[in-house]
Amino acid sequence: MATFFVLFLILPIHFIGCSKFDPTTHRGWPLINDKRCGIRTQLKTGGGKYASIGEFPWLVEFIFTLKKGNVTGFCTATIISDQFVLLPAYCRYKEPHPSKIIVGNVDRNKDVDCDTKSNICEPPMKQYGVEKFFRSNDAYSTDVSSIGLVKIQGKFEFNDFVAPICLEYGELLSKDYTGTEAEFAGWNNINDPDVKPDPSSSVLQKMTLPIQNESVCIDSINYILGPHPNQQIDIKSYVCAGGMQGQHISPWDTGGVLAVSQSVAGDIPRFFGVGVRAMSSGVDFIADVFTRISYHLEWIMDTIANESV
Ligand SMILES: *[C@@H]1O[C@H](CO)[C@@H](O)[C@H](O)[C@H]1NC(C)=O
Ligand SMILES: *[C@@H]1O[C@H](CO)[C@@H](O)[C@H](O)[C@H]1NC(C)=O
Repeated sequence: MATFFVLFLILPIHFIGCSKFDPTTHRGWPLINDKRCGIRTQLKTGGGKYASIGEFPWLVEFIFTLKKGNVTGFCTATIISDQFVLLPAYCRYKEPHPSKIIVGNVDRNKDVDCDTKSNICEPPMKQYGVEKFFRSNDAYSTDVSSIGLVKIQGKFEFNDFVAPICLEYGELLSKDYTGTEAEFAGWNNINDPDVKPDPSSSVLQKMTLPIQNESVCIDSINYILGPHPNQQIDIKSYVCAGGMQGQHISPWDTGGVLAVSQSVAGDIPRFFGVGVRAMSSGVDFIADVFTRISYHLEWIMDTIANESV
């Protein structure tokens, strides 16, 4: 009898726990998680540190120009729908600057990337104008916990080399990923923090790094931010990964997505975006810190639904 009572007590609590935001019932759901999302169609993805064509079809370049001195800034952004890419909010400077999105690139110095082993080439890279930059709150640059969205002019055409990453839904939204091997790729020297980025290294580089538990994440944030009495940290808005010896994302690598391969409800395994790069230290045993995408999911979906045509 005691068991029955316990069950009755637990069930309502369980339901409350699950009554969080459900993206599948949001009016923006048809706009994300395209049937091609999170899939690598490329036959062979090599080992080593350089990405192959089609290995990260969701990664794009966000390039902007600052007026003074015409400095060109750069962030890695992630395709999530046929009109939107996700990136850190700090990729946008205060004043609007001319910016563009480039898709379908592995080597930034080449218009057409080919796989030398299979002789398969990607379609030439494509450029899109930026229609609007959105951020999840109004604070500028210093707020690493906010996330940004860019709406492009026109629409991406998805193929084997240009495709969105999936956004989490269902059981993934409450999943503890501690210990899961995640993937990250960027256009900087990500494996060797002791070496300054080599400007000639124009090829997308990748690494795998395990997701860390909450206490490691809190320690890492405290280490990176130093004393921050005026800054409220909600640990649920972050996810941390890596940090072992020699396993860091370069501090020069801005943007980029932490991705895990997961299978939801009997579907094939797909890559889901878990975090957008927020901050790092390059110090051994301090994990890299990412803004948790699911924390901002409702804002992301509201924005996409409101702004899509
Ligand atoms: C900046 O851009 C303007 C307009 O394109 C150009 O006239 C000027 O020479 C550039 N300045 C520098 C320092 O490159
Ligand atoms: C978190 O992970 C660290 C490093 O793997 C480990 O030393 C620590 O015991 C873990 N803490 C908890 C609460 O699981």
